[in-house]
Amino acid sequence: MDCVIIGAGGHGRVVLDVLRQQTQHNVVGFLDSNSSLHGQRMDGVQVLGSIDLVPMLQRNGIRAAFVAIGENGIRRQFMEIVIKSGLELINAVHPSANIASNVNLGRGVLVAAGALVCAHCQIGDGVILNTGSIVDHETMISTCVHVCPGAKLAGRVTVESGAFIGIGATIIQRVRVGHDATVGAGSVVLCDVEPMSTVVGVPARHIKGVTNADDFQHWPAYATRSNS
Ligand SMILES: CC(C)(COP(=O)(O)OP(=O)(O)OC[C@H]1O[C@@H](n2cnc3c(N)ncnc32)[C@H](O)[C@@H]1OP(=O)(O)O)[C@@H](O)C(=O)NCCC(=O)NCCS
Repeated sequence: MDCVIIGAGGHGRVVLDVLRQQTQHNVVGFLDSNSSLHGQRMDGVQVLGSIDLVPMLQRNGIRAAFVAIGENGIRRQFMEIVIKSGLELINAVHPSANIASNVNLGRGVLVAAGALVCAHCQIGDGVILNTGSIVDHETMISTCVHVCPGAKLAGRVTVESGAFIGIGATIIQRVRVGHDATVGAGSVVLCDVEPMSTVVGVPARHIKGVTNADDFQHWPAYATRSNS
């Protein structure tokens, strides 16, 4: 099926390589809001124009798209535009990724080279499981989360929508990472992370963002943990 990649930056070029190796889709162009790229070829594929072209694509026989924007909020916005236009949001799964047979994978998901997704995980729409990341059993990842290269999520972790798990971070079992939270590169997360907050270090400590705000009165106390 002919498709476009939205986003012609470094992430878009990774996605192009994955889609080529996956061999199910024929990438006919990039779309990018940077007008200086329009008309140029990136790894042999032309940048056709901006996202404004999306409503016209179906008339030209293009039925699918992948949103390759690393920033979680912008990726969500562009995915909504794609869905409204009636295009199919495809997944990009590298042949070297290993996904257990009972994993529930959403739409518009990237599973990059060497990523591992173990039994009974749920992966929401627009999630990036970047190169060499590991998602262990029964972990639930909500929409538009970015799990950066080499990050490791143990069993029964929950990651809420829009969170960013930095490169090489480790999250122990049963931890909950709140929506739009950031886990710094290389951090080791032992306790729940509040929504919209940032934690860094080993063990991870809070450095910025909301703490104990009224908005989060329903935020659960630290989870009871057990080995799993
Ligand atoms: C967590 C992060 C977002 C914080 O960025 P920031 O908001 O600009 O924070 P700052 O750089 O101002 O750092 C604030 C403090 O946290 C410390 N810090 C920042 N990131 C840290 C990390 N990953 N581990 C340990 N400490 C860290 C800084 O040293 C600084 O400490 P200080 O106040 O004692 O000097 C960023 O450092 C990070 O780790 N980003 C992840 C990048 C990544 O994974 N990229 C992969 C893309 S695929």
